[in-house]
Amino acid sequence: MAKITDFLSGCSKNLAILGTQWGDEGKGKLIDAFSNHFELVCRSTGGANAGHTIVVDDKKYVFHLMPSCLLHPNTEAIIGNGTVINLTDLVTEVEKLEATGIKNIQSRIKISLHAHLLFEYHKQVDAELENRKGDNKIGTTCRGIGPCYGDKINRMGLRVEDLLDEENFRERIIANAQFHEKNLDITIDIEKEIESVMIAKEKLKELFCDTRLYLSQARKEGRKILYEGAQAHHLDIDHGTYPYVTSSNVSAGGICTGLGVPPKAIEEIIGIAKAYTTRVGEGPFPTELEDELGDQIRAQGHEYGATTGRPRRCGWFDAVVVRNAVEFNGIDSLNLTKLDVLTGVTELKIATEYWLDDTRIYNVPTTQKANDKLSIKYETLPGWAEDISNVRDFSELPLNAQKYVTRIEELSGCPVSSIGVGADRQALIFR
Ligand code: IMP
Repeated sequence: MAKITDFLSGCSKNLAILGTQWGDEGKGKLIDAFSNHFELVCRSTGGANAGHTIVVDDKKYVFHLMPSCLLHPNTEAIIGNGTVINLTDLVTEVEKLEATGIKNIQSRIKISLHAHLLFEYHKQVDAELENRKGDNKIGTTCRGIGPCYGDKINRMGLRVEDLLDEENFRERIIANAQFHEKNLDITIDIEKEIESVMIAKEKLKELFCDTRLYLSQARKEGRKILYEGAQAHHLDIDHGTYPYVTSSNVSAGGICTGLGVPPKAIEEIIGIAKAYTTRVGEGPFPTELEDELGDQIRAQGHEYGATTGRPRRCGWFDAVVVRNAVEFNGIDSLNLTKLDVLTGVTELKIATEYWLDDTRIYNVPTTQKANDKLSIKYETLPGWAEDISNVRDFSELPLNAQKYVTRIEELSGCPVSSIGVGADRQALIFR
């Protein structure tokens, strides 16, 4: 049986983990499994829209902005310049994790001085913008992510370092909040916002630093670094199913800009792909199952958002989607998650090709019109009925499960190096 230590001894020092579908692939579990073997785990983009769930001895831990490495006592967590941070929520997240008994959390976190501050009113703006879009809403997590990144791109956002000059901070946050009030005709309680941010700042200020310099030094010292992706390739602002995407670059390139590390700092990339596909929020989903089987997979896979609790849309594994992520990110191998959820499904389908009229296409079309016309070629494989949650060796999987994995490898153009067969930390097969 291949063990995680054997597996990781064959891995490069500095590894990135990225989602290959529309998020919720189960990145947190692999990051947790690996974290013990890395000294630093870094988040480069996004905010508390992410939700990584880790189960240890039936106890569930949910991480939002914090990298999901903190269960391991010696691992440090970096929250990079490309993230958007609601300091008050971050304090709550830290306190909740401390209450579960995790030790020394604060001494193991570094927060970038250049990360943007996400305020409560960004959530208000997010909800208002969604409301105004009506039927065209994105289905965001309503965590204020888009409006905060909007301020960043419009060069009117505030960064963590702005908190160090309170007078200047006050002036700028008032100007920013007033802009949103006028723009959207909403009322913002600015004084309350300033007060809660200042309380949170006092609790977290020792953790603020130039994480770029910290990481640069760490790389010089040869420390092992894990780059933790949030969301997934098809939610990327440039490469995803725009406009039904998140507001940052969540694919490989975003690691470099979101942490200030050069491309060569990432030596190996593992893509995470669920054994089927899910999506939360609106937007195209070619292999979606809007039937009883979709409901069955949702129930078996507990497919409800870790951040919002929304039911996830479920569908067949889409090799076009995963192959696309493999190619654009330079993914070296895949971690296939939740294979156990498919136990009992008699026939399994995999989408292999997309056609629009007489033309083969290689991306998910972004317009509704094109999606309505999309013709999908499927391959059907026989399923398996055996419980696989205690299997730890690939050769002990039912033959049909092995064939399913092998076909995914062939169609995605990428080897599957590990397989998740249950919620628990140990429920992983390494090859
Ligand atoms: P936002 O990131 O809250 O602006 O949401 C934009 C889109 O990304 C929506 O479809 C969300 O459901 C989706 N999204 C954002 N974060 C996650 C995540 O961590 N998992 C899955 N979907 C996400």
